[in-house]
Amino acid sequence: MTEPPAWPAIAALLSRELGESVRDPEPLAPPRGSQTWAARADGAARADRAARADEATTPADAAGELVIKARFGDGAYAKTAWTAAHLPLLGARGYPVPTIVWHGMLDDKWHLTVQNRLPGRPLTSLSPALLDALLRLVELQAAAGISAGDRDFTGYVSHVLFDAWDDVWVDAASSGPAAAKLCERLRRWLQPVWGLRLEPVDFATNDLNLSNVLSDGTRITGVVDWDEFGLGSRALDLVALAFDCAQLADWAAADLLLGRAASIAGQDGLRCLVSYRAIAYLGSGFEGYDLDPNVVATTFAAVVDRLQASDRRLA
Ligand SMILES: Nc1ncnc2c1ncn2[C@@H]1O[C@H](COP(=O)(O)OP(=O)(O)OP(=O)(O)O)[C@@H](O)[C@H]1O
Ligand SMILES: [Mg+2]
Repeated sequence: MTEPPAWPAIAALLSRELGESVRDPEPLAPPRGSQTWAARADGAARADRAARADEATTPADAAGELVIKARFGDGAYAKTAWTAAHLPLLGARGYPVPTIVWHGMLDDKWHLTVQNRLPGRPLTSLSPALLDALLRLVELQAAAGISAGDRDFTGYVSHVLFDAWDDVWVDAASSGPAAAKLCERLRRWLQPVWGLRLEPVDFATNDLNLSNVLSDGTRITGVVDWDEFGLGSRALDLVALAFDCAQLADWAAADLLLGRAASIAGQDGLRCLVSYRAIAYLGSGFEGYDLDPNVVATTFAAVVDRLQASDRRLA
């Protein structure tokens, strides 16, 4: 794993770029090829920003609370520029998104994003009420009404599945014997829909796992981690959440999420999205996560079992 950059270099750059000192860094998650810190900005620029903000300033904004994420290049600058320009469209629909305060390269490899800190704590499970709230939020992603350009994530999904892009199949299969077996099964399962490419009509986070949803226990207070934001199918976000619920053995929530995903993407689309999410997850290497790839693959296989048992069209 490439070590994330040291904080002093980040603080020095940010104090130049933001015109205020940024201090008290506190890691929010273990390093995963990226590193995220909470920190505090202190200076006149913060007060200016707060004064210029359209919406009422939150207590966290007033206290200068920021979140700073360092990630390895790989198109990060262009992706984040797109995100910074388009996330406000989702915010205008009432979606609790962060504001990207600043972003840029730290050096020739590492990219930095500075966001405001949203309230709440990451979810570790979904109560029926929070599941309902999350489903309503994901509906706000429907029908983006803008063209995808090079942020066409359903196009990317199709290339990964059917054109072997980014070696995702290879990485997934090499994560363990259960994963290799699941990959073979998914390839067979995909045969009737081989080449299918869903229209990129919705806003999609493309990584809506539970740890990216913040809550105060009653409400959803934020959705974070928009690194892969683009146009795609909101059903992929529901599938990602369903896999998280399956890993928690919350099959009632998983089934509901998958049922909703099927009604959005259709049974054929669902085959593609379930297969993509399974191999993307298994191929990610689990850096920073205490997970056994064989257990994960066995759980994902159980998801496919349930889908096939529930609907003849998915057999
Ligand atoms: N704007 C924010 N406001 C509040 N908390 C945040 C914010 N951004 C991130 N966090 C917290 O930090 C954690 C890690 O951030 P993030 O999800 O962006 O990175 P990651 O999951 O470690 O990286 P990746 O999934 O891209 O490998 C989140 O789960 C969330 O708890
Ligand atoms: Mg995350």
